[in-house]
Parts: sequence; structure tokens; C-alpha cells
Amino acid sequence: MQYDRTQNPVTPHLGQKLLYLSQSDVAACGPTMPEIIAALESMFCEKGEGRVEMPPKIGVHTMPDAFIHAMPASIPAQKAVGLKWVGGYPANSERELPYITGLLILNDSETGVPIALMDCTWITAQRTGAATAVAAKHLARPDSATVGILGCGVQGRSNLEALKTVLPLKKVFAYDTHSDRAARYAQDISKQFAIEAVSVADPKQAVVESDVVVTAGPILRKPHATIQPGWLAKGAFASLVDFDSYWHPAALHEADKFTTDDVPQLHHYRDIGYFQNIPPIHADLGELVTARKPGRQSRDERTIACNLGLALDDIAVAPLIYARALEMHIGTWLLL
Ligand SMILES: NC(=O)c1ccc[n+]([C@@H]2O[C@H](COP(=O)([O-])OP(=O)(O)OC[C@H]3O[C@@H](n4cnc5c(N)ncnc54)[C@H](O)[C@@H]3O)[C@@H](O)[C@H]2O)c1
Repeated sequence: MQYDRTQNPVTPHLGQKLLYLSQSDVAACGPTMPEIIAALESMFCEKGEGRVEMPPKIGVHTMPDAFIHAMPASIPAQKAVGLKWVGGYPANSERELPYITGLLILNDSETGVPIALMDCTWITAQRTGAATAVAAKHLARPDSATVGILGCGVQGRSNLEALKTVLPLKKVFAYDTHSDRAARYAQDISKQFAIEAVSVADPKQAVVESDVVVTAGPILRKPHATIQPGWLAKGAFASLVDFDSYWHPAALHEADKFTTDDVPQLHHYRDIGYFQNIPPIHADLGELVTARKPGRQSRDERTIACNLGLALDDIAVAPLIYARALEMHIGTWLLL
């Protein structure tokens, strides 16, 4: 008898239908933060061994400081391949729309056929937080107890959730240019994570006393450079979710180790006008995860991770969502 691909339980209806997962579908079958961190660690191992494929992001730009990026990636060991088409528009919050919106297409790795289409806002939030946590495992002091969050939006939340998974955090300093957002954030997360959280009126207060600093405001080609030299404490770790936008170059150059998640992608951004004055790159995350390069080596080091966000992060997580959606019979089948 001939093998019928469309009856395959891993990719049902192959070549005939794809599974559409809305934002709430994705959230309903999304993996836990520890599962996402583990998926990213496996992926960064593969990346560290040179066994993945990911061209640097290409994009179009319809407004200043806005982007829509095409992000393809393949992780053969996980039979994971697909593309994220994601927009980031800083002014969206004034229209009560999310900063980040988009879709992700997952393909069958043997035939290339699209098998799922899903909203990518949840995955982008969670995988970015998880990448910060993977970096923190190698670069933060293991006893880090205080964290400053600058930018109390989606990323401010997911990064805290992920950091809480890997560090014994006790206190959060929350800063946002909209003080009401910082106050609401402090209230929400103290309830959600049983952690002390205070909102602060000055960005410096969120940096100077923190063992970990996360900057998650808008990404700007020309940094607003609010964080000055002398603010980041000795022994602290910073995660630059919004690239170098928040940092005065002299503050960045105080880092003993400056890392990123993908060096060619960082060079690509530098060529188009970002990252004009950053320290030398010590390692990428694949090199840290595979121990090709050392992470933190002393209590006093200042360490910085500038993870740009990789298609590989998304494609490492999307198959977990797809598999759980099949198990839970969530989603809508669409004819190809
Ligand atoms: N590196 C990555 O992988 C990655 C992935 C996704 C998003 N991002 C970036 O993360 C940033 C945040 O995204 P989001 O989805 O959380 O957006 P969001 O709109 O949900 O939150 C942004 C928050 O920052 C606040 N803000 C604006 N300027 C500020 C400043 N100077 N200081 C402090 N707060 C300020 C806003 O009031 C808002 O509350 C964006 O720049 C986005 O492009 C990076």
C-alpha cells in the first residue's frame, strides 16, 4: 500500500490544509517558560556547532524607526523550519496597538510544504525573555537578587518572567517614561511572581542598585543614551532588548564582556546605521552555551548581552506550539 502523507499524525493533511493558530490559540497551547528556555538552549547548542541555517534579517521600513522583518531559519536536528514576518512600530501604543505584530509560517522539513500559520506576538515576547535568561545563566552572578526593568511593556514582563526562572530575584525596580505603566507593572508583577516591585521616577534608580538590568524601550537608530557611565554596578549583568538605544557609548564600554546572539546579524545592523559605538564582541550565545568561550569569570565583572532576536529562537519554539495544538485539537484548518 502507498504511504499517505496526509494521514501522518505529526503533519496531518500535509499538502492539503494548514493549521491556523490565532493569538489566543497560541497562548492556550504555548509551552512554559522553562520549556522555552530549554528549547533555546538546545537550539544555541546546534548554532554553536554550526548546524543551523539563518540568513541575517531583511526588512522594509515604512516609517522612521519602524520595521517589518522577514526572518527565515532552519534547525535540522529539530526538523524545524519556517519564517517569521514581524513588524515593530514604536508609535503603535498611541493607537492602542501592540509594538510588535506579525505571523509565523512553519514548514514541513522534508517537503517544504507549509503546515501551520500562527500569530507571532506571544512567541516573540516569550522567546526574547527566554534568550535573556539563557544569557543570564552564563553572564549574571548566580546570586543576583535585584533587577531593574526600563520599559514596562510586553518585553518588560516576559524578560522578568524568564529571569525569575533562572535567578533568585527578590526585588524589581520598574521605570517607564509613562509613570502609570511602571506603577501598573509593579502592581501586576508583585502579584504574579510574589516578588517585591517598586516603580521609580528616575531611570538611574532602576540601574544603580540592580544586579540585573533589562532595557526594553523603543529601538532607535540613534541611541537616546540615557544610561551614563558609572550607573551599571560592578558585578551586574545587563540585557539590551532594545539594542544600544538606552546606553551612552561610554557606559557600554565599561562592560568587561559584551555578547550578542549572532555576530553576522549584528554586523548587518551596524552596516545599516545601528550600533555605531559598541565594545568588541566577546562571544555569541552559541559559543557561551557550548563553552567555546567563557561566560562570567569573576564577581566584579560587568557583563552585557545584546540579543538581537533571531529567527532561530522563533523556529525553535513554533514546533512545540504546533505539536501541542494538534494534541489539544486547537486551531482552524485552512485549505492550501
Ligand atoms: N531583541 C529582541 O529580540 C526583541 C524582540 C522583541 C522586541 N524587541 C524590542 O523590545 C522593545 C519593547 O517591545 P515591547 O513589545 O515590550 O513594546 P511595548 O510597547 O509593549 O513596551 C515598551 C514600553 O517602553 C516604554 N518606553 C518608551 N520609551 C521609554 C524609555 N525611554 N524608557 C523607559 N520606557 C520607555 C513605553 O511606555 C512602553 O511601556 C522594542 O524596542 C522592541 O523592538 C526586541
